[in-house]
Amino acid sequence: MSEPTVPVSFEVYRFDPATDTQPRYQRYTLDLSPHTPVLTALLRIRAELDPSLSLRYSCRSAICGSCAMQINSKSRLACETHVGPEMERHGRIVVEPMRNQPVLRDLVVDQAPFWREYNGIEPHLKLDPAHPMPEGRPTSMSPEEVERFKETPRCIACAACYSACPAVEADSSFPGPMALAKLYRFVVDPRDQAHQDRLVRIQPNGLWLCLRCHLCTEACPKDVRPSERIRDLKEMAIQVQGATERGSRHAVGFKDNLVDRGVLNEMKLVRQTYGMVGMLSQVGQGLKIMRKKREIMHKPRAIQNVEEVQKIYEALDTKEASR
Ligand code: SF4
Ligand code: SF4
Ligand code: FES
Repeated sequence: MSEPTVPVSFEVYRFDPATDTQPRYQRYTLDLSPHTPVLTALLRIRAELDPSLSLRYSCRSAICGSCAMQINSKSRLACETHVGPEMERHGRIVVEPMRNQPVLRDLVVDQAPFWREYNGIEPHLKLDPAHPMPEGRPTSMSPEEVERFKETPRCIACAACYSACPAVEADSSFPGPMALAKLYRFVVDPRDQAHQDRLVRIQPNGLWLCLRCHLCTEACPKDVRPSERIRDLKEMAIQVQGATERGSRHAVGFKDNLVDRGVLNEMKLVRQTYGMVGMLSQVGQGLKIMRKKREIMHKPRAIQNVEEVQKIYEALDTKEASR
């Protein structure tokens, strides 16, 4: 028995640079069962209603990473997003191309920026020439060593995380969540001899631009959890090189403040982050904040039972050291 169908309304982003000066949204309606993937619906629109619609796809089973797009404003794989739940939540399905990459036509984007960042982290093993891998036979790794990769080998390079990332949107020099998760994968690979160099190079090259919003982790269809691996990279970079960047100085200063008094001393944190000279560039902003919040000038008193906060940090530091 065939599943009952319901009318499903689509608003699809259309843009053809050969003929359009502005993008527009085109409306289509199809009768579909709730389990129909959005990709299947788009292919039916193209076959039955409008052969001019452009989109990218291949496997139709959430493995090739080709069909990522914005579905009701979320970066998703069209082949694993079903129309029923989208209609229940939004009453219609708005389909748009991925963000942070230029649109070539309709739902097809130019992925060059995404792949450029991926290439930039040198996604291959760097071996010590004195210790080459044995030729013709595989090298072995212990289960504990494999465990350190976490979920990073699951990545299918769909770019949903890149599309969702506000740091990419704000600063095109940010490598993006997928490239950083991939970098993590090589940093923890026991066969790679460049892990220290990789960490030192990524510190001034965008690592600290991550806003810790976790939107990449939310968008990832394979649960790679890029934001957590970026956090790990930050911790490892500080261990290797100390707090040498503004972002790392801010992170370390934040912790120092909490360990000291259990509360932020904001003036001290600004000094720790920017240094005495760098603080001069913040004078305008500082005056504005001080006008609204005079108490910022005073050194805060330690909270009651601050030693409990100190114990938490001691326990965290001990756990970190034993990893
Ligand atoms: S956590 Fe960082 S990398 Fe992930 S989306 Fe937010 S800013 Fe981008
Ligand atoms: S990390 Fe996840 S969202 Fe990002 S490219 Fe890989 S699979 Fe796609
Ligand atoms: S078509 Fe391959 S992941 Fe969707």
